[in-house]
Amino acid sequence: MESLLSILTILEFPDDRLRKKAAEVKRIDDKIKKLIDDMLETMYQSHGVGLAATQVDVHQQVIVIDVSDEKNDPLFLINPVIIEKDGIKESEEGCLSVPGFFEKVNRAEHIKVRALNREGQAFEFVATELLAICVQHEMDHLNGKLFVDYISSLKRQRIKKKLEKIHKMDKN
Ligand code: NI
Repeated sequence: MESLLSILTILEFPDDRLRKKAAEVKRIDDKIKKLIDDMLETMYQSHGVGLAATQVDVHQQVIVIDVSDEKNDPLFLINPVIIEKDGIKESEEGCLSVPGFFEKVNRAEHIKVRALNREGQAFEFVATELLAICVQHEMDHLNGKLFVDYISSLKRQRIKKKLEKIHKMDKN
C-alpha cells in the first residue's frame, strides 16, 4: 500500500525552532520513514538540494539530500557523523530557511561521513564539492546552526530584518 506524501512547512530564519538541537534517532520506524519521504518531496518541491528535519520542526537527526541534475538520486542520512575531513573551500551557500539570500561560507573540502540509511544500515562515504558542502550545511541544521552564523553580524541582522518584514507581510 502506498502512503500519501505530505508537503511540510519549512521554518524560516530567525525562527527560534531552527536553533534546537536534534536528538539521535533510536529506531527507524514507519514514522521516521514517512518523515524521510515527506522531507524529500518537500525538498524537491522547493527546488532545494538538501533538507534537515530541524527545518520542518522535527528535532531528530534526519537529512535528505539530492545534488543530482535530474533529481533522481536521493541520499538519506540518519544520525550522520563526520569521521574525517580535510582542506578548506569557500563557496556561495543558500538555504530554504533563509530564502533569497546567498553568502560565501568556508567548509572542509573533503569529508568522510558515517550514517544510517533509510533501512537502518550503517554506511560510509566520501564527499567532495557540492555534496561535501551540502552534508556540512545540513549537519549544522541538526545542531541548530545556520549558514548566516558564519557571516558578519551586520549582514546577518540585515537579512533578519528583511525576512521579518516579509513574514509580517505574509501574515497580513
Ligand atoms: Ni539550509
